[in-house]
Amino acid sequence: MTASDKSRSANQMWGGRFAEGPDAIMQAINASIGFDQRLYAQDIAGSRAHAAMLAATGILSDSDAQAIGEGLLTVLSEIEAGSFRFRTELEDIHLNVESRLTELIGEPGKRLHTGRSRNDQVAVDFRLWVRDQCDAAVAGLTTLMQAFLKQAEAGADWVMPGFTHLQTAQPVTWGHHMMAYVEMFARDRSRLQDARRRMNECPLGAAALAGTGFPIDRQMTAAALGFDRPTANSLDSVSDRDFALEFLAASSICAMHLSRFAEELVIWSSAQFRFVRLSDRWTTGSSIMPQKKNPDAAELLRAKLGRILGATVALFTVMKGLALTYSKDMQEDKEQTFDAADSLMLGLAAMTGMVGDMTANRDTLRTAAASGFSTATDLADWLVRTLGLPFREAHHITGSLVALAETRGCDLPDLSLADMQSVHPGITEGVFAVLGVENSVRSRTSYGGTAPDQVRAQIARWTAALA
Ligand code: ARG
Repeated sequence: MTASDKSRSANQMWGGRFAEGPDAIMQAINASIGFDQRLYAQDIAGSRAHAAMLAATGILSDSDAQAIGEGLLTVLSEIEAGSFRFRTELEDIHLNVESRLTELIGEPGKRLHTGRSRNDQVAVDFRLWVRDQCDAAVAGLTTLMQAFLKQAEAGADWVMPGFTHLQTAQPVTWGHHMMAYVEMFARDRSRLQDARRRMNECPLGAAALAGTGFPIDRQMTAAALGFDRPTANSLDSVSDRDFALEFLAASSICAMHLSRFAEELVIWSSAQFRFVRLSDRWTTGSSIMPQKKNPDAAELLRAKLGRILGATVALFTVMKGLALTYSKDMQEDKEQTFDAADSLMLGLAAMTGMVGDMTANRDTLRTAAASGFSTATDLADWLVRTLGLPFREAHHITGSLVALAETRGCDLPDLSLADMQSVHPGITEGVFAVLGVENSVRSRTSYGGTAPDQVRAQIARWTAALA
């Protein structure tokens, strides 16, 4: 027998009814071992829990279960040492581990698959893996929120322009802007925690689809693997991939938030804005233009959403037309989820590094905040408060004052009182107090507003919550 004949002989795991092995191309399209080997630790943990339960319920002898438990640990150490040979002809991680186990311990290895199927096996492996990713992302988000909090603390009262339509709107504080991201990432964190709670039910024991006649103890395996309870419907257990979809959807929203701040960094670090300086550690130079310092990490972060959202759409598309229960289509759930999770973790780490290292140019921010007629709303509010004008009328008068300033080539605080009174005779010297940017931000004391006291209250709330 040549090597290729041998690899094409009927499968040792299920070859009983097969005379011939699969075509080489069939093997290539069918095998998942190239990527699902990433589930080795979860697969071995699931099998160890299953074997211990089979012994506790008297389905397996204690000595068989012990041999299996120890053999699986040997397989684990072989994989971790890099000496394990993954074999494509064994399709996937489940058959690779089981086959090696049987090589190592003989007959008891062949008893491991009692009362179980690869359908519930892959469901539990993948759930365990996604659950770990939720935990890692929650931890990554917490660290990122701390980095934003630190920036907010340093500049709780630094004035900068607030934008709508990327046009100067009203002065805000740097701390307030940083804290906006703390709120976004906090929601991302809570979405992941929420998804984790929902996915924390154990599908192991659903077997192929219908459950099993063996007297298994699903409570026991669920508890051993850290699940809250076993899943309640065996058909659903082997069909469900919404746990992965929820993780991907939450990751997509989070990546969108990362991308928005990345976009702001790209704009803010440009020579035209100069709001922030990114450190050398998160930028690159140009091979031709010596002056360049490019915000590559921010740009890549902006792009990562494309991959993560792509994975989300891909899995929805894989799942949407599948009649119950398992279909092989579902093997396509893994690669893109792996890639999305990797992209998210890398993105969170890169953003944490960039935010920690960046320095705001306080003076540039203040100068920018004071230009573009940013205190026009304060002027209109003053007309309402002091002269008792209806807001619509005040808005109109202020508009005329802005137009006047524009023809004079100056900003609102630079207009003379006479100029002001030419538009509305009731205006007095007192108006100039509200045209200053510091006064403007100090006045916005409504709950959640940009006044430094409000910002400091939010910083204190989050600092306590994250401690
Ligand atoms: N490699 C397979 C997957 O990832 C494992 C489940 C196989 N089940 C089956 N009935 N062929 O989906």
